[in-house]
Amino acid sequence: ENFARKNLIFYKKKILITAGPTYEPIDPVRFIGNHSSGKMGFEIAKASEKLGADVTLISGPCSQKLSHYSSIERINVMSSEEMYQAVIDYYHNNIDIVIMAAAVSDYRPETISKIKIKKNEESFSLPLIKNKDILLELGASKRNQFLVGFALETNNEEENALKKLQQKNLNMIVLNSLQDKGAGFSYDTNKITILDNKGNIEYFDLQTKEKVAENILKSIHEKIKT
Ligand code: CTP
Ligand code: CA
Repeated sequence: ENFARKNLIFYKKKILITAGPTYEPIDPVRFIGNHSSGKMGFEIAKASEKLGADVTLISGPCSQKLSHYSSIERINVMSSEEMYQAVIDYYHNNIDIVIMAAAVSDYRPETISKIKIKKNEESFSLPLIKNKDILLELGASKRNQFLVGFALETNNEEENALKKLQQKNLNMIVLNSLQDKGAGFSYDTNKITILDNKGNIEYFDLQTKEKVAENILKSIHEKIKT
């Protein structure tokens, strides 16, 4: 048993994964959210555990489940501010690898109404302010951690992903292609490209998110080894 465990490529590695959307409250009954299903992040968490890792999963509101006997530590959060706090709390706790698969909301309502907003006006605007960029902050205070981000682009995909990789001081970025039907939000499949900070680029075919998760972890392992 001991021997088998030691052959697992992420044996005892501490991996922090985020998944799902964030909900930014408007009033007691409403929020701003997005279509992230959480599936990609949950598949990465499950695959990491299978490879022997010590996994913490910080999840936004979604309907994904981990099996009962899973040893994954799951932390549920609602807003981007809550996700930020949870991630920062864990980051300096000897984490080896961070994988930010969550679709963090870029903006939130400037004020949260304590009472339900009534439809008194014919038109209505809601002032929004920018959220903290979690990954940017992790990158700025990076020591030995291996940082992985995701990028969702509709145009100049590789160029934009590379910019994010550099700006956020990441080791690797997973580019999600929306160009193919059947890839991305709420689908069970994804088409990805992996770029790293050494200038390498890997292209993958459309695959199930379970398989995509394995490929991402394999790629991380290769990059950490060298
Ligand atoms: N991210 C984050 N904190 C935010 C926004 C994004 O940590 N407030 C992370 C995401 O989890 C993802 C990466 O940054 O891993 C890139 O997210 P993306 O939305 O593609 O890029 P942004 O930097 O937000 O830029 P934009 O949306 O303008 O393209
Ligand atoms: Ca964004």
